[in-house]
Amino acid sequence: MKTVTCTAPVNIAVIKYWGKRDIDLILPTNSSISVTLSQDILHSKTTISTSPEFSQDRLWLNGIEEDITKNKRMHNCFRETRAIRKEMEDKAESAGSPIENLSTYPVHVCSENNFPTAAGLASSASGLAALVYTLSQLYELTISTSEVSRIARQGSGSACRSLFGGFVAWEMGQKEDGSDSLAVQIAPETHWPELEALICVVSDAKKGTSSTAGMQSTIKTSPLMNERINHVVPARMEQMTKAILDKDFQSFAELTMRDSNQFHAVCLDTYPPIFYLNDTSRAIIQLIHEYNATSQDGKLKAAYTYDAGPNAVIYAPKENMAEIIQLIGHYFPSNKEPTAFFADPYQVVNGSLGQDF
Ligand code: DP6
Repeated sequence: MKTVTCTAPVNIAVIKYWGKRDIDLILPTNSSISVTLSQDILHSKTTISTSPEFSQDRLWLNGIEEDITKNKRMHNCFRETRAIRKEMEDKAESAGSPIENLSTYPVHVCSENNFPTAAGLASSASGLAALVYTLSQLYELTISTSEVSRIARQGSGSACRSLFGGFVAWEMGQKEDGSDSLAVQIAPETHWPELEALICVVSDAKKGTSSTAGMQSTIKTSPLMNERINHVVPARMEQMTKAILDKDFQSFAELTMRDSNQFHAVCLDTYPPIFYLNDTSRAIIQLIHEYNATSQDGKLKAAYTYDAGPNAVIYAPKENMAEIIQLIGHYFPSNKEPTAFFADPYQVVNGSLGQDF
């Protein structure tokens, strides 16, 4: 039996992925950009064993076995990584130094998140990134990280961005087979150490509409979506890349907030509409705008962004973080003790904000 364990981080998009042009291959309708968060607090941890003694592929998620017989995405990841391993085995065989035929054995996968699954905290991103990265290590694949990301994309779109640290673009690509739809690093985590992220867990309940179902409904019904994918996002990809490379927090912050707002606007423009934000989420948006308005020099001090759920992620320069944590704590007194503090360089507030939602 061979066993490998790896962890993968969460990433939070600042230019959002929403919409697929090919559902099976998971090819997006627009490129996207994210920031990878520190693994200290948020990660998925995956252990994979493979053995000729196993009878079938099996998965345990947070300790409970899941039925994966119909899980096409997972099987795509198994198939793709096994195919590359098989090529290596065939080559080694014909070179006269055979390696173990791991590609023919079933695998047992155990995965756990140290944060709420499906609460809009990108658990599918870190989970599928951990799965594919662990498979690539198990099979000792000699492929680039972008190639690994191309496979992870087929597990969950946003997962491809969790293969890199720092600032990451998922280039949508043009090809029908998806071979050019993969993640690339814009800058490593060391590039902008003054930037921090604060995660405010507004609710850890499972979200109502999955991103997979929600985004297809948006594609089918939202007229605003055409404007977003054809005009708005292509321009923002360039502006955001430049803002990151220049460490220009003003542009980064405004683009981040505008893109989060437009993503939630296309959700509202979907018919029937999709609501991911709740009253607490909206109150945090207002608080951040009011906080920015107190700035002496007119410069933005913080930016919010929300994925497919009510939890806020606030990006800000390190020097403002203590003030922001105080503000959030004052206006949204937690009914639970915060359970986790706060990794450098990214900070996390865990625990529930506000009352019952
Ligand atoms: C709102 O990657 O979860 O978080 O590809 O169907 O698995 P699938 O969707 P998923 O969608 C994430 C959407 C988002 C925005 C983002 O992360 O870019």
